[in-house]
Amino acid sequence: MGAAEQGTLNRCLRSQRFSLWAAATAIRFAASETETESIEAMSHLFDPLKLRGLTLKHRIAVSPMCMYSSEDGFANDWHLVHLGSRACGGAALVMTEATAVEPEGRISPEDLGLWKDEHIEFLKRVTNFIKSQGAAPGIQLAHAGRKASTYSPHVRTAKGYIPVGQRGWKPMAPSAIPFDAAATVPEELSMDGIRRVIHKFEEAASRALVAGFEVIELHAAHGYLLDEFLSPISNQRKDAYGGSLNYRTRLVREVVSAVRKVWPDGKPLFLRISATDWKEPDGWTVDQSVELAKAVKGLGVDLIDCSSGGLVPDAKIPTGPGYQVPFAERIRKEAGIATGAVGLITTAAQANEIIRDGKADLVLLAREFLRDPYFPLHAAAELGQDIAWPKQYLRAKGR
Ligand SMILES: Cc1cc2nc3c(=O)[nH]c(=O)nc-3n(C[C@H](O)[C@H](O)[C@H](O)COP(=O)(O)O)c2cc1C
Repeated sequence: MGAAEQGTLNRCLRSQRFSLWAAATAIRFAASETETESIEAMSHLFDPLKLRGLTLKHRIAVSPMCMYSSEDGFANDWHLVHLGSRACGGAALVMTEATAVEPEGRISPEDLGLWKDEHIEFLKRVTNFIKSQGAAPGIQLAHAGRKASTYSPHVRTAKGYIPVGQRGWKPMAPSAIPFDAAATVPEELSMDGIRRVIHKFEEAASRALVAGFEVIELHAAHGYLLDEFLSPISNQRKDAYGGSLNYRTRLVREVVSAVRKVWPDGKPLFLRISATDWKEPDGWTVDQSVELAKAVKGLGVDLIDCSSGGLVPDAKIPTGPGYQVPFAERIRKEAGIATGAVGLITTAAQANEIIRDGKADLVLLAREFLRDPYFPLHAAAELGQDIAWPKQYLRAKGR
């Protein structure tokens, strides 16, 4: 019996509340040691999720959120307390913010980074604490591309792009097309530049391993560098990294392969994409996302984290509760890969329904976790589930 099956059995025995559940418990099966476990439609928000050698204790993850609180890329007490609180709050997976693989890949000078060995030490402290709470630490590796070199939202005196020379730098992109009229025109990446970027992702992944992370998520969403290569709006290259779908997805596929070379077989790799840039049919489309998901699945990606938008400033996005969930559902079904749903998921019932109905394998919450670091503890109580609280807080469990 595998760990996931054992977990299901234990829970059934533990609680009478679970008796109905037990009757309907889905049959689980794993195609192989290294393949993502297939989960039947009756999975529940508080069922474990096995991805390669990692078993997440349930399906609620902290979505990556920039904190703009680093100096020279270093994590500090803020990151320990912020990420650590969400681990105390019962999250199964606590993901860092977008973490730059090179200094020029930062959105702002205050971004977290992992471009040098010195960054590892404090991050190790963060991962150790997250693990001590029974959560898995994840890191989102990122390159901001043409959206780099902006003032962080914490700077009250200035907005937008930081001029080159005033703490700013020239951004890079697949093509010399700025994000908007105010942006610095980015430098088109040369072949050597592309090779360097791939290598930077690989090096950062090696450091993430030493720092103790259990999951890497590659950031190929929201109009940052990897996403810019995917969309024909921002990628107008005439070489083997632009044009056809095969060429536009090439950089993402090469980064995935490079990271997989150094990221152990037992550890899961996620890819966050913008499933659409909301500029269909000319831009990046959901159909193309399905094709990308199929391709990267074969290269060792275990879960597609399905976000959207961010590539262009004038996209019309019909936001509303769970508005991106259909992307996770479609990619899960058509590409046969685990998916994460994100975006305006704010209640226990909504999160549970997404998992129960087989629309996604994991839910990632961002703003709700800022409002309520203990969301999983509260959600479990609401859904009649018994999950572990930090021992220091036990006197407050139940009312
Ligand atoms: C403060 C903040 C910072 C964010 N930073 C990142 C980031 O570093 N990487 C990323 O992929 N998404 C980032 N996002 C997007 C979130 O991960 C998430 O996809 C989005 O907020 C929608 O989820 P929500 O409705 O639960 O907030 C950020 C969102 C917020 C609110």
